[in-house]
Amino acid sequence: MSIVDQVIDEIKSQFEGDATGHDWYHIERVLNLSRFIQLKEGGDLLVIELSALLHDISDHKFNGGKLNEGGIVASEILGRLYVENEIIERVKYIVDNVSYKGAKTKSEMNCLEGKIVQDADRLDAIGAIGIARTFAYGGHKNQAIYDPKMNATLHKNFSEYANTKTNTINHFHEKLLLLKNRLNTKTGQSLGEKRHELMESFLNSFMEEWNFNKMN
Ligand code: ADP
Ligand code: NI
Repeated sequence: MSIVDQVIDEIKSQFEGDATGHDWYHIERVLNLSRFIQLKEGGDLLVIELSALLHDISDHKFNGGKLNEGGIVASEILGRLYVENEIIERVKYIVDNVSYKGAKTKSEMNCLEGKIVQDADRLDAIGAIGIARTFAYGGHKNQAIYDPKMNATLHKNFSEYANTKTNTINHFHEKLLLLKNRLNTKTGQSLGEKRHELMESFLNSFMEEWNFNKMN
């Protein structure tokens, strides 16, 4: 069995049945999008595949806020499967740096492989699937769908982003609409265009329906 299949075997059951938008199918989509982008942009395919598979392992959103746990867990899994240390270190760096950390925080990603996996993860956070995942996650967090009394915030740092209560429509302004300009690769940017437009049109319709009484 290939190393990629062995990792799938090891992690798949942890993600199956998740109801927050971080289920196995999200991981599979990120893997497929990453492979597609790699075909156009290059980069080490094994590092990309392993990072895509492990990018949400022990995510800070689900492990009680521990930030660098993902890289440690990813390294343990790859170590058990006798993957070379050099590959493990590259995957660990990507897993630790893939996440969005707030509107006014630059995300560091210094290798092509990481830029590709980050694009794939961000593409799955926007568009039709992104909209569905965002409301699923909002429900899991007991967030309101929308609350016109709450303003969207452009968070200055990660702890502000992670700890400020929001509502799901605001999350579009705090993250999802900003991702278009944060896609790293040309291929990612071109895949992002249609997804971004779809979110804008969804938000326009949402506000139009919300303000129905004011307009009629
Ligand atoms: P990241 O690793 O950058 O946090 P993920 O791939 O783990 O991205 O996915 C984050 C998902 O959770 C996205 O669909 C995102 O929109 C959703 N999400 C995160 N925070 C919130 C929030 N406060 N409200 C609604 N959805 C959220
Ligand atoms: Ni993800």
